[in-house]
Amino acid sequence: MRSLKYLIAISALTIYTACAQQKQNLQTLKTSNTASQSKMDIFLNDLMSKMTVEEKIGQLNLLTGGEAITGSTGNSDLENKVKRGEVGGFFSLTSPQKIRKAQDLAVNHTRLKIPLIFGLDVIHGYKTTFPIPLGMSATWDMPLIQKSAQIAAEEAAADGINWTFSPMVDISRDPRWGRFSEGSGEDPFLGSEIAKAMVIGYQGDDLAKINTLMACVKHFALYGAGEAGRDYNTVDMSKVRMYNEYLPPYKAAIDAGAGSIMTSFNEIDGVPATANKWLLDDLLRKDWQFKGLVVTDYTGINEMVEHGFGDLNQVSALALKAGVDMDMVGEGFLLTLKKSLEAGSVSIEDINRACRFVLEAKYKLGLFEDPFKYCDDERSKTKIFTAENRKIAREAATKSFVLLKNANNVLPIKKTDKIALIGPLADSKVNMPGTWSVSTDLSKAISVRKGLEDALGASNKLIYAVGSNLLEDPEYQERATMFGRTIPRDNRPEAEMIKEALDAAKQSDVIVAALGESSEMSGESSSRTDIKIPDVQRRLLEALLATGKPVVLLVFNGRPLDLSWENKHVPSILNVWFGGSETGHAIADVLFGDVNPSGKLSATFPQNIGQIPIYYSHKNTGRPLAEGEWFKKFKSNYLDVSNEPLYPFGYGLSYTNFEISAPVLSAKSMTSTSTIQVSVQVKNTGARDGEEVVQLYIRDLVGSITRPVKELKAFQKVFLKAGESKQVNFKLSIEDLKFYNSNLDFVAEPGDFKVFVGNSSANTKSADFNLSK
Ligand code: BGC
Repeated sequence: MRSLKYLIAISALTIYTACAQQKQNLQTLKTSNTASQSKMDIFLNDLMSKMTVEEKIGQLNLLTGGEAITGSTGNSDLENKVKRGEVGGFFSLTSPQKIRKAQDLAVNHTRLKIPLIFGLDVIHGYKTTFPIPLGMSATWDMPLIQKSAQIAAEEAAADGINWTFSPMVDISRDPRWGRFSEGSGEDPFLGSEIAKAMVIGYQGDDLAKINTLMACVKHFALYGAGEAGRDYNTVDMSKVRMYNEYLPPYKAAIDAGAGSIMTSFNEIDGVPATANKWLLDDLLRKDWQFKGLVVTDYTGINEMVEHGFGDLNQVSALALKAGVDMDMVGEGFLLTLKKSLEAGSVSIEDINRACRFVLEAKYKLGLFEDPFKYCDDERSKTKIFTAENRKIAREAATKSFVLLKNANNVLPIKKTDKIALIGPLADSKVNMPGTWSVSTDLSKAISVRKGLEDALGASNKLIYAVGSNLLEDPEYQERATMFGRTIPRDNRPEAEMIKEALDAAKQSDVIVAALGESSEMSGESSSRTDIKIPDVQRRLLEALLATGKPVVLLVFNGRPLDLSWENKHVPSILNVWFGGSETGHAIADVLFGDVNPSGKLSATFPQNIGQIPIYYSHKNTGRPLAEGEWFKKFKSNYLDVSNEPLYPFGYGLSYTNFEISAPVLSAKSMTSTSTIQVSVQVKNTGARDGEEVVQLYIRDLVGSITRPVKELKAFQKVFLKAGESKQVNFKLSIEDLKFYNSNLDFVAEPGDFKVFVGNSSANTKSADFNLSK
C-alpha cells in the first residue's frame, strides 16, 4: 500500500510540475520573443518602407472564403482583390489545396509578395470535435482542456489554417442567450483558468511551429451580458462589475500570450466596442499592454452604421482610430480609409500601426519564412481525426457530462438489461458535435443509438423509437436545425408516435430518453425566451414515466435549462450538452458505468426563467433571507419560488459518494507577505472509484464596496479509489483576496474573511481568517 504521505507528495508534485512547466513555457516564449523581436523589426521596417498606402490598407482587409457565413453578406471577386493587394487574409477556407491556391495568388502575383493569413472558427475541435465549450468547462479539468485545444490546433494547422477565432471567454449569466454554449459559464475565476489553458493549448511555445495556431480571444468585451439574453443586444454595466466579474478571462488570455483579440458586436457605455477607444486603447493597449492583433467581428464596423454611430466613412475611421487593426468581411477600411486619410480624419500613423500588427502576426506565424508551411497534403491526411484524437475526445465527453439526479441508483444500467431508447435526439448524428463546429464531418459523428449498439455488441438488446418531433411547430424546428443539423420531421400524429414509444418501453427493463435542444437551438443568433424542454417532448416523457419503468433522461442542451419539472418527476438525469464527435460512445461509457461521471456545472441552473440572472456569487443585499428561510415579507425574495437555484454552480453527482472535511487553516491571520494553507480531507465513501472537484471559495465580510457572498478562488480535481482518503491542500495569498475598488485599483482590504471548501458552491464547510494591516 502506498502511504498517504506519498500520495499527497505525488499529487502536490504533479500540480507543481504542471504549473512549473506552464511558467517555463511562457518564459521560453518571452525570451525567444525578445531575441527575435529585433530581427522582426528590421524585416518589417524594411517591408513597410516599400509599401504604398493602398497596400497597407489592403493588409487590414480580412475576407471570408465563404464556408461559414454568419452575417448578411459574404465577399466576392476574391481572386482579383488578392492580386490587387487588397486582402490581408481569409477565414473559412479549409484544406491545403484551397489555401495553397489563395496563397499562391498573394505570394506569386502581387508586387510585394506578402503572404495571407488564414483563420477559422476552430471552437471546440477541428475534425475531431470535442464537447461544446460549455461542456468542456464542466470537466473542470485544465490539462484536458489544454490538450483539446492542442489537438484542435494540430488538426487545423495540418489543413492549412494558422489562426483560430477562439477562445470565446464571454462570461454569461443569462441562459436565454444562445451563445452561452460557446463560453465557459458564469464565473470569472473558472473562466480565466480555462482561457489560459486554451491559449496555451492552441499556441504552444512557438506560433511558427506547424502544429500551432494563433489564438483570438473573443468577443471583447462583455458580449455575454446583452440585455434579455437577446443576441447582439445592448450591454450596460458599472465599471466595478466589469472589472471584477466580466473582464478577468479576457485579461487572463492576454496574459497567457494570446496573439489576437476580436471586438464584440455590443456597445459599452454607449459606444460600440468596435470603435471604443477606452476599451481598445486605454484598457487593452495601455493598461494591459496587449501587443497583438485586434480584429473586428463579422461586419462589426459596418454594423455601427445601424447602431447610429455615423456613415461608413465615419465608423471606419472611428474604428481605426480606436485601435482596430483588421476589418472582418465588411470592407469598410478598404472602401474608405484612403479618402479618410486625404480628408484628415485618420492619419498615416493610424494606418501604419494597424498594418504593422497584421504583418507582425504573419511574421510570428512564420509565413514570411515559408508561406506554404501549413499546406502539407501528407499532414492533412495523417494528422486529422486520428484514432488517438478521437479517444481523447471520447474521454473529454465522458468528463463533461453532469449527473444531475440519480434516485434509487437507476444509473449505471446493466448491459444485460433490455433498453428502450426513445426521443428525437436518440438517433441523430448530425446534432451531436454541437453548434459552431464548422469543420466537423457530421457523417462521422456517433449518435446515442450507435454508441449504445457498439457497447452492447451482438447481444444487442436495444429497442428504438423516435417518440416525438423535436418541436411541435415545424417553422421553429426549421430555424432550430439549420446548417445541415436537421432532425427529420415525422408527420404521423403525436398519439401514434407516443404509442410506438410506449410499445418499445413496455418490452424494456429501463427507458433511456434522449431529449432536449437540437444543437442549433443554441449558438449564434439562437436565443430563446423559454428554456424548458419543448412541450411536445415533455408530453412524451410524461407518457414514458407513466409506464412505471425506470427512466434515465439524457438532456441535450447548449445552455442551462429550466429542468424543474424533470427534476421533480424523473428519477435519473444526465446532462450531456453536445459531446462532439464521440458523443454516443461517451454516453454509453457513462450509462453502463465504465466511466464514473465527474462533471460539475460551470453555470447555475435556475428553477425557472424568472430567476434569471441567477448566479452563485451574488451580493447579499440589505435584506437577505436567513439561512434555510424560504420566504419572508419585506426580504429580498419572490412570492412564487425560493431564491435557490435548481442546481447550483459547481454541482454534479457521481456513482460514488465523497465526504469533504471542514477546512483546517495553517494560520488564522494572513499578512501581505504570508500565505495560509487550507487543508481538507476528502474521502471516497462509496463502492466505486471516482473523481471529485474540490472547490475553494472565499467571502470578504466587509469591503469598501460590497462583496459577493462567495467567490471561487481555487479548485482541484482529485481521483480517489473506493474507500480511499486524500488530503487536499490549497495555498491562499493576498493575491486571492484582491478586487477592483471604486477607483478601479486592484486591492486587498484588511479585515475578516471566510473560506469555504466543498463539492459545489452550495455544499461547503467554512473557517475564518483575517488579513492584517
Ligand atoms: C461570430 C464570431 C466568429 C465570426 C467569424 C461571427 O458571426 O460572432 O464569433 O468568429 O463570425 O466566423
